[in-house]
Amino acid sequence: MKLTPEQIQIGKDNFHEAVGYTRRDFIKGAAAATTGLGAMYFGYEKLEGEPVRVGFIGTGDEGNILLNEHPPEYMNIVAVADLRPTNLERAFQGDGNDVRMGLFQKLGEEKAKTIKQFSNHKDLIEAKDELGLEAVVIAVPLSQHAPIAMEAMEAGLHVLTEKLMAHSITECKKMIRKAAEKNRLLAVGHQRHYSVLYDNANELVKTGVLGDIKYIRAQWHRNNSFPLSDSWRKSVPKEDMEALKGKVNEYGYEDVDQLINWRLFNETGGGLMAELGSHQMDAASIFLGKVHPVAVSGFGGKNFYGIKGIGPQDKWDDDREIDDQIYVTFEFPGKTYEKGDPEKSRDKCVVTYSSINTNKSEPYGELVYGTRGTLWMKTEKEAILYKEEGRGSTGGGPDQRLWVVNTEGASGAPVLDAYETTAPSAAATTASASMGEKISRGYREEMEHFCYCIRNESPLTDLRCNGVVAMADAIMALTANLAMKYNRRIEFKDEWFDPYNDAVPEEDVVKLVEKFPQGSWDDLA
Ligand SMILES: NC(=O)c1ccc[n+]([C@@H]2O[C@H](COP(=O)([O-])OP(=O)(O)OC[C@H]3O[C@@H](n4cnc5c(N)ncnc54)[C@H](O)[C@@H]3O)[C@@H](O)[C@H]2O)c1
Repeated sequence: MKLTPEQIQIGKDNFHEAVGYTRRDFIKGAAAATTGLGAMYFGYEKLEGEPVRVGFIGTGDEGNILLNEHPPEYMNIVAVADLRPTNLERAFQGDGNDVRMGLFQKLGEEKAKTIKQFSNHKDLIEAKDELGLEAVVIAVPLSQHAPIAMEAMEAGLHVLTEKLMAHSITECKKMIRKAAEKNRLLAVGHQRHYSVLYDNANELVKTGVLGDIKYIRAQWHRNNSFPLSDSWRKSVPKEDMEALKGKVNEYGYEDVDQLINWRLFNETGGGLMAELGSHQMDAASIFLGKVHPVAVSGFGGKNFYGIKGIGPQDKWDDDREIDDQIYVTFEFPGKTYEKGDPEKSRDKCVVTYSSINTNKSEPYGELVYGTRGTLWMKTEKEAILYKEEGRGSTGGGPDQRLWVVNTEGASGAPVLDAYETTAPSAAATTASASMGEKISRGYREEMEHFCYCIRNESPLTDLRCNGVVAMADAIMALTANLAMKYNRRIEFKDEWFDPYNDAVPEEDVVKLVEKFPQGSWDDLA
């Protein structure tokens, strides 16, 4: 969507107008809240008692963002661990970037100096008693989420691990079962579950103002071609190489390059779908009522990097295994969908997802297309709403200010209507204020709630992105990878989503490919 700044402002005002109206009672409370936004929005409170004693495992790019965002009133960081000396140092010194200011600046030198440093996760977990450790936050490469989370839970620690939950669904199931066996909390960092912007958008979608949603278009496009670069391919610092050469095998990496460039290899990463797509499929499925998809198909390829003789992209020999462009299509059940019913099985909503490396003309986000309106979630920071034009109603499109009327025939569902003035109403201003001055992406709130649940011994189902929820995101991402790998349309099985059923896509899909090497496996039915 190419919009002028004025149209974007109108779209944001429209969103606030709609939220201010449809969620008015809640919004009034949120705007006046003194407990912090997350607490108000996500139903927890200030922490009573001591902050939870936490160890951070993995202080790379994301670990440092989490350190930056961690809430000291809820979380007391007592230890950090990283294999790479340069990243351990960065955790304290920061890297000159506002979002990674470093612990010295965040907590002050006196407190930061009390934080114990470890050169690997094993030593940190082993020191749990001496550290009085209660929980760990894990931000390491994907292939190590499950092994480290399992070790931590086995040692009696609660776990918040970064997304994607794990490298396979078998691992996800083991993690969920371990958490239950040890009575530990297991949370996964899909931060949109803790974003006030997304929460308001979800509530709005639920009121039905967008009408019937038949299509969601999600994408995360980047341009690494011009000049040729790749934010996922990093140089290996001399200091890390000297400290780690020949010593990373026991932590699950072939060599230091694989530890640092883990996103490029199948053994350690999950490609664009796991890294970027999983967040957005998470959002799309929430908009559709947290339903599981019916099927997925797609195309993915290594179609840019390393192709000889076609342009600047052949400048380096490229050994990546992951695709550099992916296009997938998910079929989700509509509100009346019923599998097997010839009529009701036609009620589907399609979600397309793409991620490429060669054009970024559109900022990343999700576009929700309803029969009555369009909602654009842009870069996790803005929500933009427009009414559909025509069909007997006046006004609509990106230049139209909106308000909301609460009558639509017998249903009484709110509908969008045109608004003549240019200024937002008082309700819209309150809605805007209730989301805070700076839109939080949800990291802080996810850590606050995790600690709150630990201190209050809450059931793990209280966590908004607990193991079962996060496993569904992993199933979508990893099954999409299988659909692209085998060039097939894959139907999702209910058993995959059941943590206590051993069926998993990575095994079932391979069995189907072996059984039907060429044809469609619709034959199975
Ligand atoms: N939620 C989000 O928006 C978001 C954004 C980016 C990354 N992530 C996730 O965060 C995780 C980390 O990504 P990143 O960009 O920080 O990667 P990174 O490579 O920058 O950092 C990973 C760090 O983990 C360390 N590490 C690996 N194994 C270890 C072990 N056994 N013990 C201690 N330290 C170990 C590495 O040395 C490295 O410093 C990934 O799972 C990624 O998907 C999430």
